[in-house]
Amino acid sequence: MRAEHRTTTAPPPQSGPGDATAVAHPNIALVKYWGKRDEQLVLPRVDSLSMTLDIYPTTTRVRLAPDADHDHVTLGGVPAEGEALRRVVSFLDLVRARAGRPLRAVVDSHNTVPTGAGLASSASGFAALAVAAAAAYGLDLDATAHSRLARRGSGSASRSIFAGFALWHAGPPTATPAQADLGSYAEPVPAPGLDPALVIAVVNAGPKAVSSREAMRRTVDTSPLYEPWALSSRDDLSEMRAALARADLDAVGEIAERNALGMHATMLAARPAVRYLAPATLTVLDSVLQLRRDGVSAYATMDAGPNVKVLCHRADADRVAHTLRGAAPGGPVLVAGPGRGARLLPEDTQ
Ligand code: DP6
Repeated sequence: MRAEHRTTTAPPPQSGPGDATAVAHPNIALVKYWGKRDEQLVLPRVDSLSMTLDIYPTTTRVRLAPDADHDHVTLGGVPAEGEALRRVVSFLDLVRARAGRPLRAVVDSHNTVPTGAGLASSASGFAALAVAAAAAYGLDLDATAHSRLARRGSGSASRSIFAGFALWHAGPPTATPAQADLGSYAEPVPAPGLDPALVIAVVNAGPKAVSSREAMRRTVDTSPLYEPWALSSRDDLSEMRAALARADLDAVGEIAERNALGMHATMLAARPAVRYLAPATLTVLDSVLQLRRDGVSAYATMDAGPNVKVLCHRADADRVAHTLRGAAPGGPVLVAGPGRGARLLPEDTQ
């Protein structure tokens, strides 16, 4: 077990039926998931590909509560309410239905992303919840099944089940719901010889004006640029796989950058427009261009927010971080590398 999950007062978690603790990390997509074809099953319109990070894990404990008449959920020690609570309870309902066990649960989730870091936690959160809840309710799932299950909580969580690079298959488009569910999961993508870093410039950590769920829906429903982007995303994905296989960081970065800018173009063309990019985002993008002019392999990607993640060689990470700090003074700049997949704690029970 890693030191970050130990406390001096509490005994280490013991995962097993009835009580299980899991840890998972966030991931950043290099070919984006944007648009669902089935909201309930969380089936995407496009394949996507991401890198799981080695920073800011979420640790989640699920305990069955035989005497309880409702689920008790805390996030960072604070009782969950509203939409956050609803999403966790409906996820547990799914696990209960599969396990054939109606018992309620106590869920404690701790996310280590510092307040205001501006990094979404739904991927690490639902990946950790999927692994912990499946174990607590006695479901014996392999990584593919964990990925399918995590997908139902939040699409991008399907990829955080795996270490390093992961490809989430959209699945066959014309299948029945049951076949479509089975066909949509992530799997690891080997990238031997690639030693990348992702430098994250936080330009604004405030809450979003439009949730990514709503923005995705509106883009698919109203943006004339959505279908062309989704089509070109297929080429991005196959080129990305080839670039990863030959450890070509410049090609990986070029594809990631064009895919992300294209995704934001689809949102800008939505009606009404969704604009996550802020003036400071463009300043950071200019500094990434300047780094490239200076001979540094650095490529940007942005998700449903103004923060910029810059892919580079690990050896260049300090220089890139220094440049981004100058371009976006005030906001934190973080350096991440490829991280581990979701797993139960303690690891020696695996
Ligand atoms: C822009 O996985 O948060 O980060 O499935 O509605 O929970 P839901 O969406 P979510 O969307 C992530 C969108 C993205 C791109 C990506 O991670 O691929």
